[in-house]
Amino acid sequence: MTTKMDAGGTGANDEEGTPVWLKDFPHTSAGEEAITRRAFTSYVIAGSGVFAASTLGAAVWTSLRELDPGTPTPIVDIGQVPEGKAFLFRYPGPDDPAILIHLTGGELVAYSQRCTHLGCVVIYEPGETELVCPCHEGIFDLATGDPIAGPPERPLPTIALEVRVNTIWALGIQR
Ligand code: FES
Repeated sequence: MTTKMDAGGTGANDEEGTPVWLKDFPHTSAGEEAITRRAFTSYVIAGSGVFAASTLGAAVWTSLRELDPGTPTPIVDIGQVPEGKAFLFRYPGPDDPAILIHLTGGELVAYSQRCTHLGCVVIYEPGETELVCPCHEGIFDLATGDPIAGPPERPLPTIALEVRVNTIWALGIQR
């Protein structure tokens, strides 16, 4: 093999003009084709932007959505919901989850089950004094529906109730 010095005088080249040092210390590797740190950072930033935009869009949609106030509808016989228990139903429409709770002490309350943060379903554990949204740990007061912890800032929509004979009726969404 013949070698000759390159024009810059930094080393010898082989017959094809490839620097000899490049054969001794090839700077290519199997991992070179993989994603670079800069590209990875760009992907992460772009992904974060898309996530933030979709989250903001969902929040705006949740807050601007017109609530159907509903019409008077029988829900359940009061004997089926003893104190400290909850009853799940749909109101005002078939796709609207709602929860009725018979509070200790006798008061009845009902709310939309959709969290006012991003719309996840809030849940009730018997004996607790709160409704909890598992998505981002939002917490609402059981007696009022007001947000008391986590990201939600607005109360749960309240469903007005009335007991007619022995049946609990939903009269409409109040807020
Ligand atoms: S959806 Fe985020 S706290 Fe409920």
